[in-house]
Amino acid sequence: HEEFTKVKNIATIELGKYEIETWYFSPFPPEYNDCTKLFFCEFCLNFMKRKEQLQRHMKKCDLKHPPGDEIYRHKTWSMFELAHDVSQPYVDGKKNKIYGQNLCYLAKLFLDHKTLYYDVDLFLFYVLCECDDRGCHMVGYFSKEKQSEESYNLACILTLPPYQRKGYGKFLIAFSYELSKKEAKVGTPERPLSDLGLLSYRGYWTRVLLDILKKHKGNISIKELSDMTAIKAEDILATLQSLELIQYRKGQHVICADPKVLDRHLKAAGGGGLNIEVSKLIWTPYK
Ligand code: COA
Ligand code: NA
Repeated sequence: HEEFTKVKNIATIELGKYEIETWYFSPFPPEYNDCTKLFFCEFCLNFMKRKEQLQRHMKKCDLKHPPGDEIYRHKTWSMFELAHDVSQPYVDGKKNKIYGQNLCYLAKLFLDHKTLYYDVDLFLFYVLCECDDRGCHMVGYFSKEKQSEESYNLACILTLPPYQRKGYGKFLIAFSYELSKKEAKVGTPERPLSDLGLLSYRGYWTRVLLDILKKHKGNISIKELSDMTAIKAEDILATLQSLELIQYRKGQHVICADPKVLDRHLKAAGGGGLNIEVSKLIWTPYK
């Protein structure tokens, strides 16, 4: 653990129609050291010191959604995928890169333990938006390493505070596993998880696994559960163990699936979150 936490510099931000109180320090460039409030363009995420600057900017900013590819649209929700490959001529790599950096500055205001100094080129960003006739408004996002030796399928996850506790976190988590399924890989979030991150993951894992156990007839192994869900075997075992659903008999793990017990845990795990309409995900794995 760090011996001290850097003093929070920016106390509030303005983003779209929201004024949001920040949670943690974020290392904005030194020229912002003298301000306690920042004004973000909700579309390109450029940030400014004064409201008038933002108003001038909004007149000329031509973005109405995050840069990158829209890979999912269902009802009013869209997901955009951002890569930062300057080598790919059909995406504006530079614009995407600045967006990615702005997003990291913004996200760090709500993330305690993540270092910001990784190279955005190594990551993909998945931005969830709620769309209306004015544009696509960012609700939250997650990032993902393009290549992960440790089978990480998610690096950072954030739901912006005005949108928290409405099931978007679980949607983003579910989305990260849908991408893993398309890659035919298992995935796990990068550690450490924050308290809220862990709560969200526990809730997600519990709901997904216990829903399967409830419906399933006959034996089922951790490996089969992992194949069906793209959840890493270790996370399945840890989830079932923490719910005391695993017994060790004759050298084997045995899952206890008493329907009453499962229902009790499912109830405690909370809502399922915003549903993903899997058929609306148009995506091929990144190469
Ligand atoms: N108090 C208690 N439980 C909470 C909670 C809170 N403030 N926020 C989330 N949870 C738990 C609940 O079990 C909740 O399910 P429920 O509402 O059905 O009971 C579950 O987590 C997920 O809630 P959900 O609404 O899907 O998540 P969210 O949109 O609020 O996003 C985070 C969850 C973690 C993304 C969000 O809290 C966040 O952005 N936190 C700051 C950044 C962060 O810590 N990221 C994770 C780093 S690893
Ligand atoms: Na994170």
